[in-house]
Amino acid sequence: MKQTAKEFMSSISFDNMLYDEEIAASIAHARMLKQNKLISGEECDQIIDGLKKVLADIEAGNVEFKVEYDDIHGCIEQQLEEKIGPVARKLNWARSVNDQVVIDTRLFLREEDNLIRESLRELLDTLEALAKEHVNTIMPGYSHLQRAQPITLAYHLLAYYQMFKRDLKRFDNCIDTINMMPPDGGALAGTVWKTDRKKMAKELGFEGILPNAMDAVADRDFAMEFINDCSITMMHLSRFCEDLILWSSVEFGFIEIDDEYTTGSRVLPQKKNLDVAELIRGKTGRVYGDMVNLLTIFKGLPMSYNRDMQEDKVALLDAAHTVEACLALFVEMIKSMKINRGEMQRAAKYGYMNATELAEYLMGKGVETDKIGEIISKVVLYAINNGKPIEELWLDDLKQFSQVFDSDVYDKVAIRKVIEAKTSTGSTSFAEVQKQLDEIAKEKK
Ligand code: ARG
Repeated sequence: MKQTAKEFMSSISFDNMLYDEEIAASIAHARMLKQNKLISGEECDQIIDGLKKVLADIEAGNVEFKVEYDDIHGCIEQQLEEKIGPVARKLNWARSVNDQVVIDTRLFLREEDNLIRESLRELLDTLEALAKEHVNTIMPGYSHLQRAQPITLAYHLLAYYQMFKRDLKRFDNCIDTINMMPPDGGALAGTVWKTDRKKMAKELGFEGILPNAMDAVADRDFAMEFINDCSITMMHLSRFCEDLILWSSVEFGFIEIDDEYTTGSRVLPQKKNLDVAELIRGKTGRVYGDMVNLLTIFKGLPMSYNRDMQEDKVALLDAAHTVEACLALFVEMIKSMKINRGEMQRAAKYGYMNATELAEYLMGKGVETDKIGEIISKVVLYAINNGKPIEELWLDDLKQFSQVFDSDVYDKVAIRKVIEAKTSTGSTSFAEVQKQLDEIAKEKK
């Protein structure tokens, strides 16, 4: 697509989303100018009144974001002048666009960070509720995608709970970096005007003021931290989606995802595709792309502001909105999924994952170590050939392979017993999972 230089340089098509932040920051700036006697009370009122009208116009859809405005800053500046005349220009005293754009970006990300944290909290609550429902739902625990050790579904869900809890913590921490007000930077070196940003920072809800104005206009590390947090959250969501996709396949049959989140195929009517889960997995790549995009924009920039930086918003908006959409849909999707306890339990039983316990049993009975392997292989093979799980073999069957087998073997190899026996802290045992749930309930108080 061929563009004029003007079109090429304009960012209004994507930074128009910052109108709210631009107006809020401009109102705070006008008040600060008045306090420092740079404009009169009357001028301040005129400016604020005008800005509010611009806001109302934008929200009513009456402002066309034209390329001629260049960016959202230019747009609001011109809209204001059309409303209140040349006094509008006084609003630009003691500030520069380099300064404005970073304030707006910080305000915008603070809001996005809040929204994401809200969604993460909802996800955590949903996982907690699901885990509570499934403390007794037994399933195979996988490693290398092979059935490895029996676990409960609650345990599996709580593993994800912990991952998302750390994600939430990362977004909490990120607020400290985002929520700082740039000092009166002007273009980069500061300003000759007598200004005071303390009140302005307070009005805009910033935690404090950055110590160096050049740093403030030149860096976007707060945005990089944010986008990194977005990437990690997407990675966790994507893994979870992968589990759901596997679990809902006929091969697993563990869950059923509501039709709203799936599509069928006209040619293959037996198929139910988990499109929403697949798209969340796919969009993870997009957010990683945004992260690499943002980091790359900055890697070779000389100090301080450069126009390259304008591109940061493309990556940021995309990452933030993608994470928000994915989190919201993911929560709804798992709330409505059906869990097939019977299939999970069956997979756990027929996984022969209690062969280890059988070996431990033989060891306890004093069988020589080098004989144990052979006995176990024979028992498992026999069980498979007879289509039975180990714990459902008769004692006589077991005795064919070793005379030491006695009725106490069932206590050792029953799947529930196998789970119960994992007494280490943070394990899958029913008691330990309950402790994890108790801890979660305590943390919420
Ligand atoms: N649209 C620009 C951006 O997003 C605004 C800052 C431009 N600064 C300037 N002095 N022209 O980065």
